[in-house]
Amino acid sequence: MTDTAKPTDEPQLPIDIREMEIDDLADVYHLGEDLFTSDLYPYIYRTWDQWEVIGLYNTDPEYCLVAEVQEQLAGFILGTIINKSTWTYGYIIWLGVNPAFQRRGVADKLMDKLVERMIDDGARFMMVDTDPENVPAVKFFARKGFGNIRKHVFLSMNLSKHEYYGKLIAYEREKAERQVWKRPRKRSPKT
Ligand SMILES: CC(C)(COP(=O)(O)OP(=O)(O)OC[C@H]1O[C@@H](n2cnc3c(N)ncnc32)[C@H](O)[C@@H]1OP(=O)(O)O)[C@@H](O)C(=O)NCCC(=O)NCCS
Repeated sequence: MTDTAKPTDEPQLPIDIREMEIDDLADVYHLGEDLFTSDLYPYIYRTWDQWEVIGLYNTDPEYCLVAEVQEQLAGFILGTIINKSTWTYGYIIWLGVNPAFQRRGVADKLMDKLVERMIDDGARFMMVDTDPENVPAVKFFARKGFGNIRKHVFLSMNLSKHEYYGKLIAYEREKAERQVWKRPRKRSPKT
């Protein structure tokens, strides 16, 4: 995703931030589906599914917030807290803003509210990750004070083509086929 010029003279939006509720789950999921597309975010896309939204709503409801503009879903932020030895980290897992409301301060308000809550709960450090090509997000997070950027390397492997793992896959496939053959056939009723 590329850098775009900021639209000028947009009126200020009346943005309300509140906790995500059960009725928001489908809308949040579908907005994420539109935003985290495979061409723009190949790695993020793979893990965005309905279970992400349901799971975080279940485990971290206080860190799942939505933004509304005139009762319309404008964006969401889903986070969690990580406790490691004496440190408490706030982690922004997902952040998304409806393109119709982007560049109007929605993500800004979502993040401020989330960080306020996390500070209340002891966080003294924030973490986030995104694809380095995701310029709007990288700029947004840098503007909000994130720094110390480290690039992460993603590696992949086609298991079927691997010398050893490929044999395991072939073995599993043959085993499944043998089981199909072994299954007792349905007998036709005797007449
Ligand atoms: C990244 C994202 C959440 C920003 O939301 P937003 O509501 O538009 O952001 P805000 O209006 O609060 O902040 C605007 C600032 O972010 C940066 N920014 C946002 N969009 C940008 C763009 N298209 N190009 C360049 N900078 C951009 C700029 O620093 C901008 O400040 P400026 O307008 O003064 O230049 C939004 O673009 C989005 O939903 N992207 C798709 C999902 C995603 O990548 N999420 C993050 C990873 S989980």
